[in-house]
Amino acid sequence: MASRPELQAPPEIFYNDDEARKYTSSSRIMDIQAKLSERAVELLALPDDDVPRLLLDIGCGSGLSGETLTENGHHWVGLDISPSMLDIAVEREVEGDLLLADMGQGLGFRPGVIDGAISISAVQWLCNADKSSHEPRMRLRAFFGSLYRCLARGARAVLQVYPENLAQRELILGFAMRAGFSGGVVVDYPHSTKMRKEYLVLTCGSPSLSSVTPNGKGEDGESCSDEDDSGDEENQSVSVSDRNRPRKKHKLNKKVKGRDWVLRKKEQMRRKGNAVPLDTKYTARKRKARF
Ligand SMILES: C[S@@+](CC[C@H](N)C(=O)[O-])C[C@H]1O[C@@H](n2cnc3c(N)ncnc32)[C@H](O)[C@@H]1O
Repeated sequence: MASRPELQAPPEIFYNDDEARKYTSSSRIMDIQAKLSERAVELLALPDDDVPRLLLDIGCGSGLSGETLTENGHHWVGLDISPSMLDIAVEREVEGDLLLADMGQGLGFRPGVIDGAISISAVQWLCNADKSSHEPRMRLRAFFGSLYRCLARGARAVLQVYPENLAQRELILGFAMRAGFSGGVVVDYPHSTKMRKEYLVLTCGSPSLSSVTPNGKGEDGESCSDEDDSGDEENQSVSVSDRNRPRKKHKLNKKVKGRDWVLRKKEQMRRKGNAVPLDTKYTARKRKARF
């Protein structure tokens, strides 16, 4: 079995002129990418009001995924790191605006201007260090931080990914949560090796009803269970629905140090020969809460 493209070469090298053309002329790939994109649009859950939205297609390649956004009546900006893929998108006269950019360096859009984002089969590339300067964690942080900033509050990003293993999926999701997103992973067809697909469904802003992670599709049309216990780590659906940004730990029983303690400490410092400000009526005074 051929190994995943991410394991073969950096994206801008792997998707050279030949590969980009081969990718875009394969009817099998076109069909798969269209289905993944349609599902991503469904999970975006945009209001059903016929108003065109401004969407991002991150790792847009030759525009196969972006075409689904056009078909759904939206405007889109696609960005990709591979010039050959973008050349084909231009050749195919896709409707979206195209940018040559590396998502690992952050997305340079103004805050809050984007109504939603999809990414199909691209974000897992960030887990690879393709150059000595690449630090996957830094790149994931830059990507999710900038994605969060450019999305309007309450907007969603749906990222279909092919993580190599559970640890990689958790790494990606962890950086999404740290950036401020709420949401989780939707796993479609969790019991099928071929059809199983994973989508990070992320909502920008604090958790609310709209950030509840939707159910995945099962082969029988039922939602997938979070408690799949197949024993195969890679084939388990994840029980991470509705994970929120981790709360900051509050220190419990933190003792407030009083004036006596401060005066004693200052005296100790003086005895050690340190320059210590004089004691005044302001020493160790209680400050007002600012907000
Ligand atoms: C499998 S293709 C998918 C393309 C398109 N989304 C589709 O559905 O046909 C993955 C794409 O992700 C792009 N990609 C990978 N790493 C990237 C990065 N760091 N920044 C931008 N694009 C990247 C690749 O160049 C490639 O075009």
